[in-house]
Amino acid sequence: MPERRDDQIKLGVFYWPGGHHVAAWRHPQAETDSVFDFRRCAELAQLAERGKIDLFFIADLVGIRPENIDAQAGAARAVYFEPLTLLGALSAVTDRIGLVATATTTYNEPYHLARKLASLDLINGGRTGWNLVTSHNQAEAANFGAETHMAHADRYDRATEFAEVVKGLWDSWEDDAIERNKQSGRYFDPAKLHFLNHKGKHFSVRGPLNVPRSPQGHPVLVQAGSSGPGRELAARTAEVIFTAAESIGEGQAFYSDVKERLKKYGRDPQHCCIMPGIFPVISRTQKEAEDKYEYLQSLVQPQVGLFLLQHLLGRDLSAYDPDKPLPDLPEHDGAKGRTEVILRTARKDNLTLRQLYLQIAVARGHTVVIGTPEKVADTMEEWFVGRAADGFNILPPVFPTSLEDFVELVIPELQRRNLFRKDYEGTTLREHLGLPKPEFVKRSSAHAEEEKERQLANAG
Ligand SMILES: Cc1cc2nc3c(=O)[nH]c(=O)nc-3n(C[C@H](O)[C@H](O)[C@H](O)COP(=O)(O)O)c2cc1C
Repeated sequence: MPERRDDQIKLGVFYWPGGHHVAAWRHPQAETDSVFDFRRCAELAQLAERGKIDLFFIADLVGIRPENIDAQAGAARAVYFEPLTLLGALSAVTDRIGLVATATTTYNEPYHLARKLASLDLINGGRTGWNLVTSHNQAEAANFGAETHMAHADRYDRATEFAEVVKGLWDSWEDDAIERNKQSGRYFDPAKLHFLNHKGKHFSVRGPLNVPRSPQGHPVLVQAGSSGPGRELAARTAEVIFTAAESIGEGQAFYSDVKERLKKYGRDPQHCCIMPGIFPVISRTQKEAEDKYEYLQSLVQPQVGLFLLQHLLGRDLSAYDPDKPLPDLPEHDGAKGRTEVILRTARKDNLTLRQLYLQIAVARGHTVVIGTPEKVADTMEEWFVGRAADGFNILPPVFPTSLEDFVELVIPELQRRNLFRKDYEGTTLREHLGLPKPEFVKRSSAHAEEEKERQLANAG
């Protein structure tokens, strides 16, 4: 076993209505109300908080695919709360857990998103994170007046500038700019207000943001891309990276590649937490855990499994013989990293189309651990100490029971091994993750100063 680490495992819970197994919602113990009754969703976040977990993660897609509606009708994947709205509500019913919401850079404007995230970060005392995605399917494009989805490279080019503009807007106000001095009659210090005046290929944003700086400076920047451009953007800006790896070897390769890239941008590798997904099927005995897994697999409806695989691969597979291995597929412009993981698995194990969608129906290419709490803790310790992960994004197979099992059985085991905190150390998401509060960066140009003077002169 490689040398021990002096830091501890970071944990996130990936929220998805009903649970992450594609047939989870059909499980008798699965909750199917959290989309309609916010209290159910709140209970899940509060359960994760009782486990001292770092963050609660909310994914997003801005559209429903028009194809295979009959198959989609068999899955609990079509409807869910808009993430920033849900994050706002969860902020009011939790105290310490970080709240990470997904928002696309392809179908949003930087000023709007910077403002919403900065507001949420003030509302919840610095517990906000933003999972920056570029959106990966045509169905989303159709909701924003686009005939075709933006090309992969263009999406990342726009996302790179988008992230810079958002961070620039988050530095509109210095920490102590808002004085609210009733005696002097000065509400804020004009010298601590900064115009951004960004003029770039995709955006022209003058700023400043009309929301003051949050307790943690900036919300935490999260990403989940794993293609070349995805890793480059992450190395440039991400403080947390979610990823999918089916083996420790894959995890270690991704980990060392990305940590190396950070150095190119003068960044400390410790200031970026790599958190692969883990899908734990937990029970007190190995046999019981395997029975739980088999029961979930028995609930999979073939057309639903096939639909999920088509969604992840971004291709129509209905023409292929389900009992034959998947033929080579033409290149495409959707989610590249995940496609590679899935096709690599299919080739490595020579899986038929049916075997592949039954495997993907489980954890969508994330690593699966079936067994006792000790076995799950062993796997997490091996990946953590083996530098395949700084932490994990937990994908509970069935909500709430699988999360209850994890909080009540696995977390005490990790704490016993001193691999996970016994209580929250700080109050902000950055403090939980051991990330520094970003320095205030004055981005304003000379022109901005003139602009400000002109405005102040006008204000008389
Ligand atoms: C754990 C995880 C969560 C993700 N969540 C979302 C999401 O909520 N919305 C989304 O559009 N993409 C999501 N993605 C997909 C990524 O943002 C990205 O589009 C995908 O990994 C492909 O990126 P690549 O082409 O750079 O490999 C997620 C990926 C991972 C690994």
